Amino acid sequence: MKNDNPVLAGVIGWPIGHTKSPLIHTYWLQQHRIHGYYVPLAIRPENFEVGVRSLRKLGFRGANVTIPYKETIFNMASSISDRAALIGAANTLVFGEDGSIRADNTDGIGFRENIRQYAPDWRASLGPALVLGAGGASRAIVSALLDDGAPEVRIANRTRHKADILKDQFGAKVTVVDWAKSSEATDGTATIVNTTSLGMTGLPPLKIKLNAAPRTALVTDIVYSPLKTDLLVQAEEQNLRTVDGVGMLLHQAVPGFHAWFDIRPEVDSTLRDIVLRG
Ligand code: ATR
Repeated sequence: MKNDNPVLAGVIGWPIGHTKSPLIHTYWLQQHRIHGYYVPLAIRPENFEVGVRSLRKLGFRGANVTIPYKETIFNMASSISDRAALIGAANTLVFGEDGSIRADNTDGIGFRENIRQYAPDWRASLGPALVLGAGGASRAIVSALLDDGAPEVRIANRTRHKADILKDQFGAKVTVVDWAKSSEATDGTATIVNTTSLGMTGLPPLKIKLNAAPRTALVTDIVYSPLKTDLLVQAEEQNLRTVDGVGMLLHQAVPGFHAWFDIRPEVDSTLRDIVLRG
């Protein structure tokens, strides 16, 4: 008999109310007429492990994990991708038919594919990158930049010690720059990335001047609310190429959807509008 049970996946967090992931996956499910559902799952920390195991038993193909589970999932994963291990956090789980749980991190893919969609000729290898921030998002982005051949990655972080830890981990191509010297550190860069929360609605803007950046530099921001942050406005005023941050969220969802629903979806402008409105 043909198995036409719906295919299930979801996103696990605590709390989970803010997540835009269901909008993304539901759009693709409808676009491809897939009999499936992607649901937000608010699971309390004390129920996390049993919750994940239950999802597997209920037939879920996998899930995204978000705050506060991006690191704790490592304790129960059967296997961890190299990039998730390097970044120290996972955002995508794939459940195997044998009961296994594979943990992966797709943020770096999201970062790279977002830029390539709008600047197809951009390559990390074109020159040094300046990365502002040294948190979870920064780790994924530094890792992706190095993977893609960036000759140097300069990290500036308010708490310098955290940037030093990234240098120790990622090696000789990483240099640590004083937070107060961020503006000077744009000199000679091919890529400038804000991975801090500065510039987000309700928070102060990032204090950086882009005057020293080469005319060829590409500037991008992981903040997408507002879509055009002060950093991107300043970059546009200087005629630098810019890529906004919402595409990183959309592109990081592609590998999970592909693994669970067997179709590699496209990130198109309708999806972008849905997520920006939602
Ligand atoms: P994420 O997982 O989104 O990267 P995170 O791990 O909490 O979140 O990292 C937040 C980043 O934003 C850090 O680099 C943080 O700097 P510190 O390491 O000094 O905390 C940076 N950040 C947040 N608020 C900031 C502020 N007001 N000024 C400067 N940097 C800030």
